[in-house]
Amino acid sequence: MQDVADKEKLQVSPSGLKRPLITGGAGFIGSNFVHYWQQHHGTPVVVLDALAYAGNRANLADLEADPAVALTFVKGDICDRALVDQLLKDHEIDTIVHFAAESHVDRSILGPAPFIQTNVVGTFTLLDAFYHHWVSQGKPEHLRFHHVSTDEVYGSLGEKDPAFSETTPYAPNSPYSASKAGSDHLVRAYHHTYGLPTLMTNCSNNYGPYHFPEKLIPLTIVNILLGKPIPVYGDGQNVRDWLYVEDHCSAISAVLHQASPGSTYNIGGNAEVKNLDLVENLCDLMEEMAPDLPVHPVRSLITFVQDRAGHDRRYAMDIRKIQTDLGWSPQVTFKEGLRHTVAWYLDHPDWWQPLLTPDYQAFYDEIYS
Ligand code: NAD
Ligand code: TYD
Repeated sequence: MQDVADKEKLQVSPSGLKRPLITGGAGFIGSNFVHYWQQHHGTPVVVLDALAYAGNRANLADLEADPAVALTFVKGDICDRALVDQLLKDHEIDTIVHFAAESHVDRSILGPAPFIQTNVVGTFTLLDAFYHHWVSQGKPEHLRFHHVSTDEVYGSLGEKDPAFSETTPYAPNSPYSASKAGSDHLVRAYHHTYGLPTLMTNCSNNYGPYHFPEKLIPLTIVNILLGKPIPVYGDGQNVRDWLYVEDHCSAISAVLHQASPGSTYNIGGNAEVKNLDLVENLCDLMEEMAPDLPVHPVRSLITFVQDRAGHDRRYAMDIRKIQTDLGWSPQVTFKEGLRHTVAWYLDHPDWWQPLLTPDYQAFYDEIYS
């Protein structure tokens, strides 16, 4: 149903096609989005990705090997203005879907500088390049700059607070969320000041295939497979609102194709879960689904560790605006999504094992020692 609605309301270029540049398309959500795009829209895409530590060309290998898929992969930095200008022009780009970012809160605490560079300066570079590209063509109405952002810009909720809505004031608490908030403000300013046709989505925690094993869900799965302790920060009672990554992709597609320029939408899974409950749930699922685990009972691996500095207590998203305006709702329940995710990691040791490099181990030791 959603796809039919998308196609009917598609605001397309005069040629009838959207030609997107997808930044960060080799990362977790970006690569899922490239797959989603091929399946549901199928027009040629250009991916710009610096292949930073979480970027992995293997995430796109099946598409790059398929002669029916028109995918151009460019290894490069979103802060490289000359490169961005060239790509916009050479590929006649009419849509940017901007995922590229430094994305891990713990890394932002250890070293905030790359977060400011990529998330703030990089987003500015893309916005300004796209603005001049748009102006050079006489400001066509169908162009779009879609900025992918996070619920973390809104700060932290108390147990009984209402969920974040699109009008909740920004109150970012980590260097990561502050850098994303900075980028969100630049997107807003380019629309407000210059009329650039921007779109923005703020989403809750994603999970699913191709998730780098530094974030809670893939880290827990991988550590269980290796028989390593599962680190739970603080008292484990922090709450996150989880969304299966394919649902995030369908929400972005709905916004991209249907929303008015300048609009912002919150996206979430209506699935608030406490970290400890989530980890226990994963332990039980792994006992059920994975043969020959090195440690039993799996729950004995759960280890409480020192809390993250400035750890946000609770996130929750009010998604009524996107439900009402665009008819989007999450389709995958948390229970189903977690099962798909565990199954994917069990089927793809060849994907995650090579990621456990000496650099990964050094980061791990620094965070958890
Ligand atoms: P990720 O870390 O898995 O991927 C980020 C990608 O950006 C990587 O491929 C990396 O190589 C690339 N990249 C980093 N710096 C770059 C640069 N300077 N130039 C070009 N490419 C660069 O992150 P993700 O989890 O896929 O997140 C994607 C986007 O979604 C981010 O903007 C993030 O803020 C946002 N987001 C993530 C979540 C989540 O739960 N993961 C939730 C809401 C919003
Ligand atoms: P994470 O996956 O890093 O996402 P975010 O910080 O963007 O929400 O963390 C999800 C939650 O899990 C968060 O409350 C921090 C917690 N956490 C742990 O308890 N242990 C861990 O090893 C990690 C990585 C996260």
